[in-house]
Amino acid sequence: MRPTRWPDRPPPRWASRRGDGLTGVAIVTGSDPSAIERAAQALAAGDLVGVPTETVYGLAARADDDRAVARIFEAKGRPSDHPLIVHVANRDQALPLSAPWSEGADRLAAAFWPGPVTVIVRRAEGRAATAAAGLPTLALRCPAHPVAQALLARCAELGVAGLAAPSANRFGRVSPTTAAHVRDEFGDDLLVLDGGACRLGIESAIVDVSGAAPVLLRPGVLARDELERVLGQPLRDADDGSVRAPGTLESHYAPRATLRLMSSEDLRSALGVLPANVKGVAVYSRTAPRRHPLVRVMPDDPRAVAQELFAVLREFDDRGVKLVWVEQPPDTAPWEGVNDRLSRAASR
Ligand code: TXA
Ligand code: MG
Repeated sequence: MRPTRWPDRPPPRWASRRGDGLTGVAIVTGSDPSAIERAAQALAAGDLVGVPTETVYGLAARADDDRAVARIFEAKGRPSDHPLIVHVANRDQALPLSAPWSEGADRLAAAFWPGPVTVIVRRAEGRAATAAAGLPTLALRCPAHPVAQALLARCAELGVAGLAAPSANRFGRVSPTTAAHVRDEFGDDLLVLDGGACRLGIESAIVDVSGAAPVLLRPGVLARDELERVLGQPLRDADDGSVRAPGTLESHYAPRATLRLMSSEDLRSALGVLPANVKGVAVYSRTAPRRHPLVRVMPDDPRAVAQELFAVLREFDDRGVKLVWVEQPPDTAPWEGVNDRLSRAASR
């Protein structure tokens, strides 16, 4: 990491003295008020902190400090032209960052914040420029996880105007849904607030409400029709590739293993001819014979699959699995978010 100095302000007690934005502290219990204080002070001083949200863990830095935000890009190995989501404590903290705050944003925030919906609005001049990768728009999200909420509230008291936070994984890898996953990505030098396993498990839905018609840039766990009902109009799809969104790059969310999506029939016949003691193959399936040694049972409920999906993929990687056969879930609205992540993980 690039060394940075703090010539004009002495580092507070919890801040990094290492110059790389890392505090040299590992996982701490996120619900402990002293841990929240410690993380808030570290963030205020420009350090990075791993933060639980209800979707996935984020790698946070203060959004109003370009040097701090630059460290996120370095730590993740993320190209600096890929914009980050800025997390806010509430709608009031979102307003000064946007110009104008659109009606669509207002409807979505009123219905779903705090919660797993990110809105793209026009960005107020001079605000969060590095987080937005210089784009004229800005992604804003108000997370519901109580640890994230407490941290954002304390950061706001310290004068921090929102936290830029992408998912806390190295660029292109599977998003983390536990504090241990974050440590696996960044090692013991990153302060991570442990908020338990994420309740939802896949990233927020992203809705671009900066233009004339709302566009669904990334599906989440909320079904498309729930978003459309609140917006009062249909969502367009991000089809023209003009919006830069790495979450929409084909090969995003990839495990190390090769993942193949298969129909129920193809999976059953492939399993029929596969020796049960074959090494390096795992199966994630709703309908395959449950007692088959390679099969990990996929739940019937799309929310349950979303919740465990990234953890299951990491588990396969940890076990040294080289090939994962996944039974393609139904092509219906409640499965849209899961199908999106699976097809990206499969296209490598
Ligand atoms: O659930 C989530 O959204 C998680 C948690 C940590 O909040 N965050 C997350 O961040 O998934 P990240 O950086 O992994 O994905 C953010 C997505 C990217 O695909 C990015 O391109 C898109 O948001 N994005 C950010 N700003 C944008 C903008 N101005 N226009 C279009 N897309 C934008
Ligand atoms: Mg991500």
